[in-house]
Order: sequence, then structure tokens, then C-alpha cells
Amino acid sequence: ATLWCVVPAAGRGTRMGADCPKQYLPLAGRPLIAHTLERLAAHPRIAGLVVVLGAKDEHWPGITTLRGKPVRTAIGGAERSDSVLAGLHALPSGVDDADFVLVHDAARPCVRATDIVRLIERAAQADGGLLGAPLRDTLKRADEGGCSLATEPREQRWRAFTPQMFRRGELTAALRAVALDGRPVSDEAMAMELAGFRPLLVEGAEDNIKVTTAADLALAEFLLARTA
Ligand code: CTP
Ligand code: MG
Repeated sequence: ATLWCVVPAAGRGTRMGADCPKQYLPLAGRPLIAHTLERLAAHPRIAGLVVVLGAKDEHWPGITTLRGKPVRTAIGGAERSDSVLAGLHALPSGVDDADFVLVHDAARPCVRATDIVRLIERAAQADGGLLGAPLRDTLKRADEGGCSLATEPREQRWRAFTPQMFRRGELTAALRAVALDGRPVSDEAMAMELAGFRPLLVEGAEDNIKVTTAADLALAEFLLARTA
């Protein structure tokens, strides 16, 4: 089976507040997304990429191969789940419904190759899965005034990262179902949970950050060098 990776890159980066989408901001001298795609294309287990772009993307360089691997594109939608669904549709026909597919945020350039391998190997033994990390901080529930109302148990609470890996057919069906319900989901695993699956949580390095704010850009620049 050939393992492809869908890369949602159709967001607008509203929390970053820059004048272009955050995936195109410079990071260590190149657009942020170039680092992400380079790491994925260089990975020996990944056969090809589908990059999901915004409808009016003026920044995409129009590449069709990277490190000798095919790079396809699709046009995303209003929600991340719409974008991932569009990416799944753009996979080549050689990717069967029963084949696993990775989904990785364009905004996570510091992902480690060793974590990708561990996810692939462990999640393939389950209904798929995702990289994440157990919560380390004490977790508070706030009231509307921003005061701490209660302390939530930290046990069994995880932060969810990407890549996430699911079977093409099952993930497509799960995302279509939430789209029909108009139910917002924050990641692929949530759509799978709602469809009755139990995605495996695979612990990964916490430096696989999602670049969200300007401070994250500086941190990612630092982390890129040490996570290569
Ligand atoms: N994404 C996407 N399609 C959307 C929304 C998000 O492809 N409709 C992608 C983003 O480009 C990003 C990833 O999903 O690579 C994670 O989303 P997020 O970090 O929330 O990025 P943005 O939505 O761009 O940022 P913000 O929420 O601050 O606007
Ligand atoms: Mg967003």
C-alpha cells in the first residue's frame, strides 16, 4: 500500500494577523510551508502529497514534484474538515479506500521523522490514530469572568497534534457525516470518534508545535534546527 499525506493549507491565519496566510510567512529564510512539505516529501514512508490551498492563493509556487515525489493540489473550504475532504478527493485512484492516509497541518513545520514512523507503525495496528502528548499543566475550568471555577483532572487528557492517520474510506465517510450534520470538528480524530472509532493516541514530541501566533514563529525557527 502506498501512503499519501494530505496537507491542509487553506486557512487564513486570522490569529496570526499578518497580511498573508501564516503558512507563507518567512521562517528561517523560506516560507513556513516549504519546511513542512520538505520534511514530508523527504520521509521514506510517504509516497506523495496533496496540498489543499485557499481559493485565492497567490503564493503557491505551483510545484508538482518534491524530492521526486508527486505533489497534487486541491482547493479547500471554509472549515478545516472541508479542506481535508477536498484533499481526500484529490488523492490518486491508486490509493484504495482501505489504505491509510496521513493528514498533517501545513502549520506544523517541526514534525520529526521518527514520530511519523512511530505513528504509522502503531496506528496501523488500530483504527488509525494521531500524534499527541499527555497534558502536563494543571487544567482549570474558567467561569465567564475568567476566574477559576474548578480544577479538571489531568489524567487521561491529551493534546492532539498531527499527523493523524486513518483509512481513506473511513475518514471520507466520517468527514462527510459531520459535514451533513453541520457539526464542527476540530480534527480528523474527532470526526472518527463521532463515527464510532477509537483513534490510537501515539505520544509524540511536544516541539511539533502548530504555528499560530507571532511568538510561535520565533519558537519554530529555534525548534527547526533541533528537530531535523
Ligand atoms: N486549514 C485549512 N482549511 C481551513 C482552515 C484551516 O486547510 N478552512 C489549515 C490551515 O491552513 C492550517 C491547519 O489547517 O495548516 C490548522 O489550522 P489553523 O492552525 O487553525 O490555521 P488557520 O485556520 O489558518 O489559523 P486561524 O485559525 O488563526 O485563522
Ligand atoms: Mg483555524
